[in-house]
Amino acid sequence: MYDFDVIIIGAGPGGYVAAIRAAQLGLRTACVESRETLGGTCLNVGCIPSKAMLHASEFFDAAANGSMAKMGVEVTPKLNLPAMHAQRIDAVGSLTKGIEFLFKKNKVTWLKGHASFVDAHTVEVAGARHSAHEIVIATGSSVTQLPGVEIDNAKAVVVDSTGALELPAVPKTMVVIGGGVIGLELGSVWRRLGSQVTVVEYLDQLLPGMDMDVRKEAAKIFAKQGMELKLSTKVTGCTVKGKKATLTVEPAAGGAADTLTADCVLVAIGRRPNTAGLNLEAIGLEVNQRGQIDIDHEFRTSVDGVRAIGDVVPGPMLAHKAEDEGIAVAEWIAGEIGLVNHAVIPGVVYTWPEFAGVGLTEEQAREKGEVKVSKFPMAANSRAKTNHEPDGFVKVIADAQTDRVLGVWAIASVAGTMIAQAAQAMEFGATSEDIAYTCHAHPTHSEAIKEAAMGVRGKPIHM
Ligand code: FAD
Ligand code: NAI
Repeated sequence: MYDFDVIIIGAGPGGYVAAIRAAQLGLRTACVESRETLGGTCLNVGCIPSKAMLHASEFFDAAANGSMAKMGVEVTPKLNLPAMHAQRIDAVGSLTKGIEFLFKKNKVTWLKGHASFVDAHTVEVAGARHSAHEIVIATGSSVTQLPGVEIDNAKAVVVDSTGALELPAVPKTMVVIGGGVIGLELGSVWRRLGSQVTVVEYLDQLLPGMDMDVRKEAAKIFAKQGMELKLSTKVTGCTVKGKKATLTVEPAAGGAADTLTADCVLVAIGRRPNTAGLNLEAIGLEVNQRGQIDIDHEFRTSVDGVRAIGDVVPGPMLAHKAEDEGIAVAEWIAGEIGLVNHAVIPGVVYTWPEFAGVGLTEEQAREKGEVKVSKFPMAANSRAKTNHEPDGFVKVIADAQTDRVLGVWAIASVAGTMIAQAAQAMEFGATSEDIAYTCHAHPTHSEAIKEAAMGVRGKPIHM
């Protein structure tokens, strides 16, 4: 009766994963994507290209800032920015083509073009109508605009994250509006390559949503690396003359205005769900106050036959959260049970060092009840010390009565990799004792998690 069992709108980490899983489960599946390539924000202009630039610029920085010289490797680095961009484009190209290959392999039909609803079981794409028993909205998110600051990526003076990934030259000075994940990751890229970077953040600390200890330490670490931080400050306007931007800034609480000039301004104040253009009116689906589509635990919207996942629904805007929801929604549609534990979704900032966390912050945990908290410094971890990586710590937060781990936070060169073990432990309902009595390989950064866990009820050895 329908053309497909399921149509998924959007081929980002939520949509493409849902499509592949649905096809694996035997459903006749189509995925609509309006971009030229699959993979969504993450593969095209997000996670992957930003990590390509972070990884490459880290090498340059290590050579330029003396970290390599400290280990007996003396080099004078010379930046070849076109080559750095080329390896980024290469990484994106091979990964997005990989998704196309997986679509073919799993017999997912790619409907090329922009989808809009005709009714709850029909979408229109490039003038043709396609129907399905179930439709999944996985349209992701776009950059939030700041009134008075006009983004023009082509001019490369006032840019968003997409523009900041592909600047044709290293700007002498850069102002980043927003001290969140994008601002710090992409601000780090250009600082490492030689820009004088100033971060203007509205709140009194960087990285909202993370544990307060981590946020305070982040401010110290980024300032030490040479970023100028203007916290509790808001941008009220921007003018561009030729290749220079002038920003007006004010204390967030009000007060005397000041100006900042820069060769490049990066606007990174958050992202908004993509729902415009879907013709949601046709199916009577409304968005909430934050522009998101509300769902239940089976990812069902208020309209029968229409589900939603990823950045377009409430929760952290993260690729792995979207992917897990993609798998789960396909399983529900196929008549199975699809589970995502939204209490255990790790978050990682891929700067140097990395900042990572999973579960509750200490502040959130204390609001819920009595807790025990233990912190172990990376300076006391043998591997970090040997590698000349003294910055950071691991913090374990456990329930005072049950000892169950409620949250783990880490600042370390490889915190993003370390946090996976904490997520797995929490998924299994581990206590701090379980982690403390798990044998960890030596010498590894992960031993800091074990030692922090040892400190919850007793004492670590190396402190
Ligand atoms: P998206 O990836 O946004 O994909 C949605 C897709 O739907 C898009 O391709 C869009 O073209 C398409 N689409 C939208 N509307 C329609 C329509 N009507 N018809 C057809 N197609 C449509 N997250 C991490 O976890 N780790 C990271 O390191 C990380 N780094 C990031 C770096 C940057 C610079 C940015 C911007 C984001 C980063 N993110 C990261 C966030 C991550 O990219 C998103 O959380 C993730 O892509 C969300 O997946 P999604 O499938 O919900 O949506
Ligand atoms: P964000 O929400 O992380 O940070 C935005 C920052 O801008 C906040 O600190 C906020 O207080 C500040 N801000 C808001 N309005 C402001 C104003 N007018 N003036 C000054 N500061 C202002 O959003 P960001 O960095 O844009 O990232 C968007 C999303 O992309 C995030 O939700 C994040 O999860 C995702 N992402 C994830 C990455 C990762 O997992 N490593 C990397 C990059 C993005």
